Formats: sequence, structure tokens, C-alpha cells
Amino acid sequence: MTRLTVLAMAAIGMGLAIVLMASPTAAHQAAAPAEPRPEPPPEFTKLCVRCHPSDKIVEGRRYKTQWDQVLEQMVARGATGTDQEFDVVFDYLVSEFGRVDINKAPADEIAQVLHLEQGVADTIVKQRPFADFDTLSALPGVPVLELTKRRDAIVF
Ligand code: HEC
Repeated sequence: MTRLTVLAMAAIGMGLAIVLMASPTAAHQAAAPAEPRPEPPPEFTKLCVRCHPSDKIVEGRRYKTQWDQVLEQMVARGATGTDQEFDVVFDYLVSEFGRVDINKAPADEIAQVLHLEQGVADTIVKQRPFADFDTLSALPGVPVLELTKRRDAIVF
């Protein structure tokens, strides 16, 4: 191998390293949210993205009753699916894009929206009202980390 070849190979190697460092995949991973939501169920894609993109549907959180109204409106606008498919979509929307009034909602709704065990939700209902996130977090048995992830879903 000549000296020139070695230099050329080193240059190619450096070029490759630069390309790898600047790759869009790496940049994308760095920008990704810490807690990505799960993929939507196939029923969601089947029933809901025919007429408009999904990011329009889930741009904000809604109360369970509001999601119920949205689904009724979509049926009126022509969305079709079986009752079972609509149930799956409803559960997905409430679990991942729900909003809950911690001082008024029934325990099962608190459990679903905040991804808490039913027992914890029952305790919350027994001990409420709560003035703010800090007093709620101070309740013994509440998984504060889990709750923090969905802090924007809680209304006091
Ligand atoms: C047959 C067409 C159609 C289907 C299927 C459909 N939608 Fe819609 N959707 C519309 C129309 C029309 C609008 C109102 C115009 C707009 O905002 O683009 C709308 C608007 C919305 C909005 C915004 C409502 C608001 O008040 O801002 C949401 C949320 C939504 N759809 C959710 C869904 C969900 C969830 C599904 C699946 C169950 C679904 N859509 C399926 C036609 C459809």
C-alpha cells in the first residue's frame, strides 16, 4: 500500500464518520419526546384517518364525554365501523388523549386517563378534593412519576 492510498483511505473514513454523525436518524432520536405514546390501534387508522390526518384528531386532550361527542359527530359526518371498533377507538383516545377532573370524575375514569391502578384511583376519590398537583402527589400510594407524565391531563 502506498502512502497516498493510506491517506486516501483515512480521508474516506473521516468522511464516513462525519456522514454518520450528521445523519438525520441521530438528530431525530435526540428530538423525540421522552415518553412516546403507543402506536394507535389498527381500528383507529381504519375508522379515523380516511377524511383527515390523525394529528388533527389528537392535537389536544379532551374529557371522556367530549371524546364521546366527537365520535357521535364523526358518525354523523360519515365515519363507519362496528360498535366494537368504535369502542377500541374510544378507549384509545380516552387513555392516551384524555383529560380528567380529579375532583369530580368517577374512579374508573381517573384510573384510565392517568394509567393508575383502580385501588389508587379509589383512594384519590375518597381523599379528594385536591387543590393542586403537589397535594395530589403527596397522597400516600400515588405513583408520582407516572402521574407527572400525564400532569397535563389533570384538571383541579
Ligand atoms: C367521513 C369522514 C370522516 C371520518 C371517517 C372521520 N371524520 Fe373526523 N372530521 C370530519 C369532518 C368533515 C370534520 C370537520 C372538518 C374539519 O375540522 O376538518 C372532522 C373533524 C374532526 C375533529 C375536530 C373536531 C373539532 O371540534 O375540532 C376531530 C377531533 C375528529 N374529526 C375526530 C375523528 C375521529 C376520532 C374519527 C374516527 C372515529 C374521525 N374523526 C373520522 C370527517 C370525518
